[in-house]
Amino acid sequence: MKTVATENLTQDQDELVDAAIAALETAYNPYSGYFVGAAVRTRSGALFSASNVENAAYGSTICAERMAIGKANSGGARDIIAIAVTGRSDNFEKSQITAGPCGSCRQVIYEFSQVSGCDIEIILATADKTNIAVTTIEELLPYAFGPKQLHINVSMYS
Ligand code: THU
Repeated sequence: MKTVATENLTQDQDELVDAAIAALETAYNPYSGYFVGAAVRTRSGALFSASNVENAAYGSTICAERMAIGKANSGGARDIIAIAVTGRSDNFEKSQITAGPCGSCRQVIYEFSQVSGCDIEIILATADKTNIAVTTIEELLPYAFGPKQLHINVSMYS
């Protein structure tokens, strides 16, 4: 994981972070008050963004990352190459480093890395872009369990 100054982001990375930040504001979060925005980029350059959607049955909450991946999938694009994630709470300092994707989201990102055949880039950014870190799914979920363990090749789903 490396920290990157906002001015050193590539244009593609910056655009993805901005899409995640824009999505943040749509969070449905009456229970946690925590806003998460995520945006994915596919190999063809398409962007899909989403926010977290909470539920009174807390376990039925859907994270922003998985919502964004679902949007890409239903939009006909599964070959995800990068995802930007941002989070904020009115209770925290805005400059705090945003948390990485939860374990379930890492697992889902890993699945799609096998579909796209690339180590998906993960950009973590605070909502004010003062703290940005760039990593990959292989770094965040080493020795992962995936389609290969089931002897299934998912690359044809890309
Ligand atoms: N959340 C996400 O959207 N993504 C994550 O990776 C971690 C947690 C959401 C779920 C819930 O709405 C709120 O953050 C607090 O857990």
